[in-house]
Amino acid sequence: MAEKISVLFSEEEVAKRIAELAAAISAEYEGKYLHLVCVLKGGVFFMTELSKHLTIPCSLDFMSVSSYGNAMKSSGQIEILKDLDEPVEGRDVLVVEDIIDSGRTLSYLLEMLKGRGAKSLKLCTLLDKPECRIAEVHVDYTGFRVPDKFVVGYGLDYQQKYRNLPFIGVVEL
Ligand code: IMP
Ligand code: MG
Repeated sequence: MAEKISVLFSEEEVAKRIAELAAAISAEYEGKYLHLVCVLKGGVFFMTELSKHLTIPCSLDFMSVSSYGNAMKSSGQIEILKDLDEPVEGRDVLVVEDIIDSGRTLSYLLEMLKGRGAKSLKLCTLLDKPECRIAEVHVDYTGFRVPDKFVVGYGLDYQQKYRNLPFIGVVEL
């Protein structure tokens, strides 16, 4: 059964905001070589679009993690389903995520990458739900703040559907 999806940020609004983020990132990393780390699967649409607008040299790597979902109370470890292909040691790393919700996934992931000796480590997320935070995470670049609603599109899924929507929408259940 198809759910009703209402548009929260249009394709044009998302494209414009990603170009703005890329300009800010290019300015901050001027003269450096940036290593982008994408958290699969949700971050992939955002990272590819963001990287197309960067004016600095960059490389891309991908990892996949399981998150335990909101039902789990403990801030327990997440499981790495697919690790990065390349080491991050000594590199300027920017983690690119689709959404920060409880913050559990990213607080764990950032600690882990720090432990692997990245020269610098920052976080860029397309969406942030700050009111849902449980684990503290410092976000360096945010596309849009969103209310505590279930959003889909531009990489974000509902039961694996809707990642391919070119806009950000809210699922009306
Ligand atoms: P965390 O709660 O910050 O650890 O977020 C874990 C993951 O849950 C995110 O990377 C998303 O993949 C997913 N997620 C959280 N909120 C939403 C949403 O509103 N729509 C789709 N996926 C979500
Ligand atoms: Mg994600």
